[in-house]
Amino acid sequence: MPQVAPSILSADFANLERDIHLVEEAGAQIIHVDVMDGHFVPNLTIGMLVIEAVRKVTDLTLDVHLMISNPETMASRFVDSGADSVTVHYEAATHLDQIVSELKRKGARAGVALNPHTPVTVLEEILPSCDQVLLMSVNPGYGGQTIISSSFPKVRKLKDQISSLGLDVRIEIDGGIGEDNTSDAVRAGVDIIVAGSAIFAAEDPAAAFAAMQSAANEAARDTRSFV
Ligand code: DX5
Ligand code: ZN
Repeated sequence: MPQVAPSILSADFANLERDIHLVEEAGAQIIHVDVMDGHFVPNLTIGMLVIEAVRKVTDLTLDVHLMISNPETMASRFVDSGADSVTVHYEAATHLDQIVSELKRKGARAGVALNPHTPVTVLEEILPSCDQVLLMSVNPGYGGQTIISSSFPKVRKLKDQISSLGLDVRIEIDGGIGEDNTSDAVRAGVDIIVAGSAIFAAEDPAAAFAAMQSAANEAARDTRSFV
């Protein structure tokens, strides 16, 4: 079943533990963590110290999205900090195969992320080694942006690529997703739906999470009944 992954980028950093527990009690299984370096993207967020701190207050899957240049030097250190999955950008990595192998060797799930303008065809060689592919549906750097309209057709292309190769690779979408378009994302083939502002900027984050998760579950049931 598809899973909604709340992104703590839009949470209250002074009350991170409280916000994580809010969505945890509502049934979230994955927490998405955005690491930005002020170089690959024009914003700075958090690093390993915060991931270590978050690891101490939750057993949920920590899904770390690295928006950093030269991830070769740092990606696997996020596993040491407590990440369960680490995703690096195709555009930032020179030695992608090496990073993916190292992450898996350390026991983490390995992901590759693509910016909106990067075609899914670039994944041809790396796809069989990936556990997940993250498609950015906004330009990375900030929460609360509007989804780019070509994102769902891109998901379908990737889904076809994965199915035709018979692979078990999860598709994650990130940016501009809320209750209104969660069903469309799932129907296009998304497995992990990242949502920041739609959950943590809502008056009731637990209710916002629950509404998105139930929209995702319903869309998955509909989609499967057509197969
Ligand atoms: C954006 C980040 C996202 C962000 C999404 O660069 O990668 O994870 O939190 O935020 P929303 O859901 O508000 O578009
Ligand atoms: Zn992200």
